[in-house]
Amino acid sequence: MWPRKDLIELLGIAHPIIQAPMAGSTTPAIVAAVSNAGGLGSLGCARDTGQSLRERAGEIRRATNKPYNLNFFVHKNPPPDPDGVARMARRLKPYYDELGLSEASEPKQIYPDFDDSIVDALLELRPPIVSFHYGMPDADAVAALKKAGSVIISSATTAEEARWLEDAGADAIIAQGYEAGGHRGTREPNTDTGLGGIALIPQVADAVKVPVIAAGGIADGRGIAAAFALGASGVQIGTAFLSTPESGINPLYRNALLRGADMGTALTRTISGRMARGLRNRFIEEMRAYEDESLAFPLQYGLTGPLQVASAKKGSDEMLAMWAGQAVAFNRAMPAGELLETLVEETRAVLAGL
Ligand SMILES: Cc1cc2nc3c(=O)[nH]c(=O)nc-3n(C[C@H](O)[C@H](O)[C@H](O)COP(=O)(O)O)c2cc1C
Repeated sequence: MWPRKDLIELLGIAHPIIQAPMAGSTTPAIVAAVSNAGGLGSLGCARDTGQSLRERAGEIRRATNKPYNLNFFVHKNPPPDPDGVARMARRLKPYYDELGLSEASEPKQIYPDFDDSIVDALLELRPPIVSFHYGMPDADAVAALKKAGSVIISSATTAEEARWLEDAGADAIIAQGYEAGGHRGTREPNTDTGLGGIALIPQVADAVKVPVIAAGGIADGRGIAAAFALGASGVQIGTAFLSTPESGINPLYRNALLRGADMGTALTRTISGRMARGLRNRFIEEMRAYEDESLAFPLQYGLTGPLQVASAKKGSDEMLAMWAGQAVAFNRAMPAGELLETLVEETRAVLAGL
């Protein structure tokens, strides 16, 4: 049924639908459910160490013998910034006070560097697919991962980034439109040109020879069929999979997704230090005026993290990070494997009806 087969052949899957890696929200259970249903399950591993990676990949492998994807942020933590931290701590003090937290101190490191300890674990695990956000690792790491048999994927937000990724060895490229939930996959922080999927996907398809995967605001068969019409060979879907029981999200976040259409979404860097799209809650709205004061990614997250934990403990979603894309209105609460099968059947019907 699929109009283009290069991606399914490259990945060894039945259906060209990738459940997006979502660090903090994807679990080995969701990955296995999607892969067992013929799509590609992806685990967001940006918070993992070599040790936790081995454990979680082991869980996936025990639950499926189908291809799966492990995903990483290609980033190094910035140098300490005591003055900036002190300034941001003053800015966040009213929220800390409101939640009964003592004043912010040195931010905790949320995402470890992507370094040799992770590459070594990957070379040992030999996952069928490894994907990246924020560019690509150095050429030696890419060559070693490919030699170990992993297919390499990364995200582009412009045709220029897509060409750069292809030159750096990407076997397939995600065209991440502005509609997408979560962090913008720009190579450099805060360099977004804001291209929506309808404009971006054909530009990327024209720019590269490798298969293109459309991402951002795709939530049903209409979006998947449209992605093929625009030149993609598959899709990567994040937000729609958050409402499945296998996702690892907080119940407050799960409930807020049901109100997604009313809340709307916004891009902000006041949560993590890099632009990301989430449900518009009180924190995003009130911090809008201070976007430019945000610390470098992910230092800012180190300071807002305690607010999120305390807000959740209080039973409030006002200060939670609730990443979601523009199609959140279509979220359906059904098991991940069933959602994958539903998406396939919807796409079949849309393609047949065109
Ligand atoms: C909650 C959430 C977390 C995300 N975390 C990651 C991540 O860890 N790595 C990554 O490459 N992309 C991440 N993304 C972006 C997705 O890969 C993808 O671009 C996006 O979900 C597509 O848009 P959609 O959410 O509208 O389907 C995340 C998205 C969401 C919604």
